[in-house]
Amino acid sequence: MQVDLMQFDLLAGTASRTVAVPRHAPTILVFDSGLGGLTVLSRVVQAQPGAHIVYAADDAGFPYGRLGEQQLVDRVLSVMERLVARCHPDLVVIACNTASTLVLPALRARFAIPFVGTVPAIKPAAAMTKSRLISVLATPGTVARDYTRDLIKSYAGGCEVTLVGSTRLAGLAEAALKGEPVDDGAILAEIDPCFVERDGARTDVVTLSCTHYPLLIERMKLLAPWDVAWIDPAPAIARRVEQLLGQAVSSPEGQPVQSTAIFTSGTGLTGPLRIALAGYGLASVEIEAMPLVQ
Ligand code: DGL
Repeated sequence: MQVDLMQFDLLAGTASRTVAVPRHAPTILVFDSGLGGLTVLSRVVQAQPGAHIVYAADDAGFPYGRLGEQQLVDRVLSVMERLVARCHPDLVVIACNTASTLVLPALRARFAIPFVGTVPAIKPAAAMTKSRLISVLATPGTVARDYTRDLIKSYAGGCEVTLVGSTRLAGLAEAALKGEPVDDGAILAEIDPCFVERDGARTDVVTLSCTHYPLLIERMKLLAPWDVAWIDPAPAIARRVEQLLGQAVSSPEGQPVQSTAIFTSGTGLTGPLRIALAGYGLASVEIEAMPLVQ
């Protein structure tokens, strides 16, 4: 089983691969199917404040959780061809579990740049739980992956792991970010299967294994039937970026860091969403049109 290096970073702090550090301020491409990668972007910006950041959302393909595996591999490779040609990144963060758990080997074979992936934080969850009941909240694609099952076999022996494949939560997170009303009941219905009681013990750790979900974390905490530890992998991903690129380049005084968002459709770019994007430092929004061929 291939274990992503980020997983080592999460678990043992032993990641060691290095890449050539660019002499210029690096360009970091943060990629997701939609808006979830923004939760990772914030941490990457904190870790590399002088980097040129491009945030790319394949909103024409969203949600990835519903795509078949071969379709998703082909889609991510073709979108990445365009993005790499357009942005010339020094490093790419795949801020999407649904893609990372499947497409990383193909991306690394195709492109000679480092890719940092985002995979379910099962080992940290297993290390943290006291009740031995942990839940993985993810898209239907991520919970079905062999990669996810292998992580459980390798790292979560002795735990009961509940895999919760949510069909609606990523969409609800996007709606909330766009300022649209999202019912408490709709969120609760998606997270409720994570909460398991068995022989007097209760789930005590939930891994947020879709980057969209931390967008709803405050509401999920309020709605949860009981307190649990929620694992958001974004800080570990930012640490991994730092390991690969080296010490952060600080931005030259008085010069704002350039950050751009690219969408493959842009049909959902409402006024409130543009305001939300600006809040993430993404005032410049561009379209690289790539309709999804079904
Ligand atoms: N943000 C993506 C993830 O981390 C998934 C959302 C989708 O289904 O496209 O898995």
